[in-house]
Amino acid sequence: MSTDVLLSFAAWLRLREAADAAARADGLVEVVRRRLPAAGPIVLHDLGSGTGSMLRWLAPRLPGPQHWILYDRDPELLAHATAETVTSADGAPVSVATRCTDLTRLTAADFAGAALVTASALLDMFTAEEVERVVAACAAADAPTLLMISVTGRVRLTPAHPLDAQVEAAFNEHQRRTVDGRRLLGPDAVDATVAAFARHGVAVQTWASPWRLGAAQGELAAEWFRGWLAAACEQRPELAVPAAGYARRRLADAAAGRLGVVVEHLDLLAGG
Ligand SMILES: C[S@@+](CC[C@H](N)C(=O)[O-])C[C@H]1O[C@@H](n2cnc3c(N)ncnc32)[C@H](O)[C@@H]1O
Repeated sequence: MSTDVLLSFAAWLRLREAADAAARADGLVEVVRRRLPAAGPIVLHDLGSGTGSMLRWLAPRLPGPQHWILYDRDPELLAHATAETVTSADGAPVSVATRCTDLTRLTAADFAGAALVTASALLDMFTAEEVERVVAACAAADAPTLLMISVTGRVRLTPAHPLDAQVEAAFNEHQRRTVDGRRLLGPDAVDATVAAFARHGVAVQTWASPWRLGAAQGELAAEWFRGWLAAACEQRPELAVPAAGYARRRLADAAAGRLGVVVEHLDLLAGG
């Protein structure tokens, strides 16, 4: 299974943006709105913003003047994030600043005056110690934290295939691999985050936010499948031989609009 057909990271984030937007727990917005200051401009901090999909999703759902601060370690992704104007629910442009930095070094002082801290599709990339540090900074900030689209490791493909469960298990092992001495949490990140907030006395509400990909999302389903299978084969090379026929069949199904994919995620709202 070759990975050379995979998209650039920015293109991948763009491709998944509509599915993320459809998956995000809409009911959360009203809960968040009730926790924001009643008047005045608000400042929102988005951690690991990538190309800015959280900004584009949430800013138009919130009223009033907004200033967003986007953090990422990748300056090219941050440049994408500021390329277009985003407006609030009132139709006024929101102002956006970027900070190219390591999120795991942030402290509560960085969030002084924040109305909300957000992140999306981020937690699985952290180690347990990094989750502790990021949660400590968020818990000490005088603002709620909204963490969306965190993977749980559970996926469901239709039609079902006997290899699905092995690939899922191998992919999840890959997500938990050690990179440069850092043991990533992968699908264990949600539990680690909820437990870390609890240690700071901060309650967390949880909503399901699965991707439900069908014929209309065939391109995303195929790209997701390629990355999922490539990671699984990297983790367990013995899967490579059976994976070849499996991949041909799945990708043909995706191209014909016959592949269904559910990728489970959770949205978390902490504190406030
Ligand atoms: C999967 S992407 C999600 C991007 C965006 N939130 C979205 O939903 O489209 C995760 C982002 O977090 C950034 N990131 C991960 N770990 C980071 C760290 N320690 N410091 C700064 N940025 C980090 C990556 O560069 C990447 O842009």
